[in-house]
Amino acid sequence: ETRRLTAPDIRARKNGEPIVSLTAYHTHTARLVDAVCDVILVGDSLGMVMHGLESTVPVTLDMMILQGLAVMRGSRHALVAIDMPFGSYEASREDAFRNSARVMKETGCGAIKLEGGRRMADTIRFLVERGIPVMAHIGLTPQSINVLGGFRAQGREEADWAAIEDDARAVAEAGAFAMVIEAVAEPLARKITAEVACPTIGIGASAACDGQVLVLEDMLGLTPRVPKFVKRYGDLGPGIAAAVEAYARDVRSRTFPGPDNVYAMKKPAG
Ligand code: KIV
Ligand code: NA
Repeated sequence: ETRRLTAPDIRARKNGEPIVSLTAYHTHTARLVDAVCDVILVGDSLGMVMHGLESTVPVTLDMMILQGLAVMRGSRHALVAIDMPFGSYEASREDAFRNSARVMKETGCGAIKLEGGRRMADTIRFLVERGIPVMAHIGLTPQSINVLGGFRAQGREEADWAAIEDDARAVAEAGAFAMVIEAVAEPLARKITAEVACPTIGIGASAACDGQVLVLEDMLGLTPRVPKFVKRYGDLGPGIAAAVEAYARDVRSRTFPGPDNVYAMKKPAG
């Protein structure tokens, strides 16, 4: 059975088996993630993780399409959702459709993700009606960092709940097949998950959500600083450093390449 999971398959997981999701940006990490996950997210976090940018704001559509293609080549089971980058979908729903359609046509991915609650509801409806499955993203929305002034958890005061709940209801009613809820206090994430008809996929939003997502390099221990909501499931940094050191030692002592790593002549030379 090699049929890829679809947006409706993920939508049907509401109140069901938890949705397992991780990011991937490369073919070979996608292959490893695909063996286990339901959704692979090609996140615009690639700007920070792959390119060392300070935020996701500078990420371009071309960067997302290039990595989206790489991830599609490495996967065959999971639904691949690709982030729409800052500036590619906010100005108008027509803009959003043109750019989302380009992402889907050029990569073959099964869904796109965009940030925003009530302000994006019209656009989400417009896209879904025209054949583009949309994953919403509410709570902390990193593309708005310059307005928010910092990466801070949301909904930690009850006074802030109504606005975030309105965002959740708006994107669900607009037809999003799932929503990422980022860095939101546990009781609010629980309330939203109970209220909306589509699955919630939490990142820093507690086990009350219908699924979880993390940035792969964060959970593997490859990125230097991570938010509180990341659990380090691996510590690959020291392993890579040790391998690089061993290689350098072997090159300097001329013990690499050894006999196993060189081509012999078909006939003796001379
Ligand atoms: O860009 C990203 O990686 C994301 C999530 C982790 C949800 O949007
Ligand atoms: Na993102």
